[in-house]
Amino acid sequence: MTTAEKIGQLVQRMGGRQRALNSRLGPEELEKVRRGEVGSYLHVAGAEPLRELQRVAVEESRLGIPLLFAMDVVHGYRTIFPVPLAMAATWDPSAAESHARIAAQEASAAGLHWTFAPMVDVARDPRWGRIVEGAGEDPFLGAAMAAAQVRGFQGSDLSAADTIMAGTKHFGAYGAAEGGRDYAGADLSERTLRETYLPPFEAAAKAGTASFMTAFNALGGVPTTGNATLLRGILRGEWGYDGVLLSDWHAIEELMAHGVAGDRAAAARLALEAGVDMDMVSDIYGQDLIASVEADPELKARLDEAVMRILKVKRDLGLFVDPYKYHDAAREAAVMLSPEHRAEARRIAERSIVLLKNEGNVLPLAKGAGRIALIGALADDARSQLGSWRARGVEEDVVTLRAALEAVHAGVTYVRGADSRSSEAAGIAEAVSAARASDVVVMALGEDFDWSGEARSRSSLELPGAQEELFEAVASTGKPVVVVLMGGRPLAIPEVAEKADAILVTWLLGDEAGPAIVRTLFGDENPAGRLPASFPRTTGQVPFAYDHLPSGRPADPDLAKDTARYMDLPITPLYAFGYGLSYTTFDYGPVAVDRASIPAEGGRVTVSVAVTNSGLRAGDEVVQLYMRDPVASVSRPIQQLRGFRRVALAPGETRMVSFTLDAAHFAFWGQSGGWVIEPGLILLSVGSASDSIHGHAEVTLTGQSHGTSSPASIPVLSSDRQIRGNLNPT
Ligand code: BGC
Repeated sequence: MTTAEKIGQLVQRMGGRQRALNSRLGPEELEKVRRGEVGSYLHVAGAEPLRELQRVAVEESRLGIPLLFAMDVVHGYRTIFPVPLAMAATWDPSAAESHARIAAQEASAAGLHWTFAPMVDVARDPRWGRIVEGAGEDPFLGAAMAAAQVRGFQGSDLSAADTIMAGTKHFGAYGAAEGGRDYAGADLSERTLRETYLPPFEAAAKAGTASFMTAFNALGGVPTTGNATLLRGILRGEWGYDGVLLSDWHAIEELMAHGVAGDRAAAARLALEAGVDMDMVSDIYGQDLIASVEADPELKARLDEAVMRILKVKRDLGLFVDPYKYHDAAREAAVMLSPEHRAEARRIAERSIVLLKNEGNVLPLAKGAGRIALIGALADDARSQLGSWRARGVEEDVVTLRAALEAVHAGVTYVRGADSRSSEAAGIAEAVSAARASDVVVMALGEDFDWSGEARSRSSLELPGAQEELFEAVASTGKPVVVVLMGGRPLAIPEVAEKADAILVTWLLGDEAGPAIVRTLFGDENPAGRLPASFPRTTGQVPFAYDHLPSGRPADPDLAKDTARYMDLPITPLYAFGYGLSYTTFDYGPVAVDRASIPAEGGRVTVSVAVTNSGLRAGDEVVQLYMRDPVASVSRPIQQLRGFRRVALAPGETRMVSFTLDAAHFAFWGQSGGWVIEPGLILLSVGSASDSIHGHAEVTLTGQSHGTSSPASIPVLSSDRQIRGNLNPT
C-alpha cells in the first residue's frame, strides 16, 4: 500500500445527508473511491445502491479493498423501538439486546456494516438533550445496557450477514458537559471519571465492541479527540482495546476551534498520535496528514497501526471473503418491519413505561370507563414517537396514542388543547369543556422529539409552551386526570405530581407507542419500568444523582440551618432513581447473605431476598441491590447500585432473588490511583427503588486487594427461583 492508500482507509466520507441518504454519491465521489481515497461512508443505505458502490471499490480501485458503510441506527432501523433512555427504564438488558439484534438484522439487510450505537454516556444533568440517547445517570445500569446492545448488534459472529459492528460512543466524558450544554467541556476528578463515566465504555470494550467513537468535548481542557491519556492510555493501554477508534463528526478539525492545534496538519497529527484511526468527514487525514507522515517514521508507525485496525474489522465482517454479502435485495424487502419486529417493539415499549403516581387506583381504567377526554398535542403526534434518531423509521408506521385509544374505546373526545411548544393558549377553553363532559381525562404532556437529542439543551426542565396552563385548567375541573408524560428527559413537574391522579411516563416509545400506552392504561399490561434517571423538583436541583457522597453535615430538614440542604426545597428528588409503581404490590422478606465475611482477594458473597406479589394482579418487580462502604480511606457514596433483576410474579407467588457479587464489586478508585478493595464492613441494601429500601445485610471484607477494572463494569450474576406458587390462581 502506498502512504496515500493507507491514509485513504482512514477516511470516512458522507455519502449523503441524514435525511437525504446516498445523495452525494456522484461521479466525482466515485472517482475518489477508484483512487483509493475512501475507507468508509456514512449516511448511506440500500442493498442495491451500496452493492454498486462496493463494486466500484472492489473492482475498480487498485487494491480492491471493500468499503465500510455506516449509519446511526440508534433505536431501530425501520422498526423503531423506544428511545434508549426509555429502553433503560425496562431495567431489562435482554430487551435492549433483542432490540439491537432486530436493528442489526434490518440495517444489515440494507447494506450497512456499522452503527454508531450504543450511546453509553452517563448523564446526570437532564438539561443536556442527549440524555435521551443513553441509559441515564447510573454507571452500573448503563454498563449492563451497553454490553447488552453490543451483543445484540454484533451477535456471536461479526461475519454473519445479519450482524453489524457496534460503534460505542462518545468515549470519555461527553455526558459530563458543564451546565448541560451540548459540546461543553467536562472537568472531573480522576475518581469520578473512572467510577461514574467510564464503566459503560469499559463494559462495551469487554463485550467486544468493534469500534468506539470519541467525544466532541474536552476533559480538563484536553479535547478528547486529541487526548492521548484517555485514548492511548486508558482505552488502548489499560483496557487492551484493539478495535477501531473513530472521531465524531468533524471532531478532528474542531481541535483547531478548541485551541489545541494551529492548523489542519497539526490537528491531524494530534488525533493520529492520540490514537484516532478514522476521521469522520473532516477530511483532514485525507488532505493534511501525508506530509507529516512522510517526514516522521514514528507517525508512519501510527498510521500503520490505524490502517491495520481498519483492515481487521473489514476482515472480521467477512468483507474480504465476500464483499457483497450485505447486499441482498430480497432479504432487504422481506425483513423490514416484519410482524415479529413490530411485536417486539410493542413488548419493549410496554416494558419501558413507568408509573409514577396512582392515587386511589384510578389506573387501570375499567374497560367501560365511560367518556374519555383525550387532551394534548403529543397524543396525536406520530413523528415525535420516533425520537431524534429515527434511521429509516417513518411516521406512517407509528400508531399514536390517539389512534390506539380510539380503536379500542368508543367514547373518546380528542382535543389538542395546547401545542407542545408554543405558548398559544387559545385551545385551552375547548379542552376544559371536553374534560367537563368526560368521566376521565387522559392528558398527553411533555416534550416533542425535537426538544431532546443532539444540541437540544434546555435551561429549564419545565413543561414547554402552554402545557402547564393547560394542565392547571383541566385539573381544576375536578375530573380524574391521568397524565401520560412523553419526552426524552426527566422533567420538573411538581404541580403535575401534586394534582394529577395518575402519571405514566411513556417517553418516546417508537412505532408501537399508542398500543403500548393504551394496553397499560386499561391494565392489559402492568407497568414495571423504573426511572433510569432521577426526576428533579426544579431545574435548580440539577445536576443530580442518587449516588452522591455523604456530607460532614448531612441534610436534615429538622435542623433548619447549617446542613447540606436547600433553604427553599427538600433535598430529595421528586421521583428517585429506580422508582416506579405497579398495579399490584410486593412484599420483601429479610435480606440474607451466605457468609458474614469474605477475603478482599477473590471472595464472593451471595445476597438473597424473597419477594412476594401480595396483590391481585400479575406484575413484574425490579429488585434492586445497593451497596455502601461506610468507612474507607476516601469518602464513599451513600449508595451505589450493584445488582438488579426484573422478576415476573403471579398474584401470591414468591420468588427467591439472589445476587452473587465478587469482592471486586466493592472496589473504588484509590487515593494514589488504581482500584482498591479495602478491609472492613460493606452494607448491602435491597429495595424497589433507591429511596425505597426494604432490608439490609452486611458483609465484612478481610485483607486488602486490588481490582483490575471498574466495579460497575463487572456483571453481577443474578437468579430467581420460585419458592411458593400462586396461592389463589383464580
Ligand atoms: C453525533 C454522533 C453521530 C454523528 C454521525 C454527530 O454529530 O455527535 O453521535 O454518530 O454525528 O451522525
